[in-house]
Amino acid sequence: MMKEAQIIQLPKIFDKRGNLSFFENVKQIPFQLERVYWIYDVPGGEIRGSHAFKEQQEFIVALSGSFDVIIHNGEEEKTFSMNRSYYGLYIPRLIWRRIDNFSTNSLALIGSDRQFDPNDYIRDFEEFKTQNNEKDA
Ligand code: TYD
Repeated sequence: MMKEAQIIQLPKIFDKRGNLSFFENVKQIPFQLERVYWIYDVPGGEIRGSHAFKEQQEFIVALSGSFDVIIHNGEEEKTFSMNRSYYGLYIPRLIWRRIDNFSTNSLALIGSDRQFDPNDYIRDFEEFKTQNNEKDA
């Protein structure tokens, strides 16, 4: 089981007609997909998703363009610059994350292991740190 946020390299099928990549349940990604959503048409300078999830795991791919995913694991912050459609960022539960620095026409695809649940969000950073500490205890 993956406990750390990490980049996962996806298969890339080179083809002179155009390249192809994919991910399948529990093969390339370490969880069962339940939902896919995407973020697009982001105006310059905007920031998405400053929050953590109590249970949700995610997998984020820059299908087009580029953006930064800044994660905080309760101790330190780390920036992942996403700009290839054959790399995804796995994020386990209880990681604070925000996405910024979106390029024009960028497209962020996010796979999740559960359906949308507003009660799974932690939107207060101090509450996140408390829950994160309890997880490690
Ligand atoms: P939210 O996750 O808060 O956006 P971000 O974290 O990227 O800033 O979602 C924004 C709104 O969209 C919020 O009202 C909930 C709604 N939403 C859904 O209805 N279903 C979904 O799958 C997602 C991700 C969001």
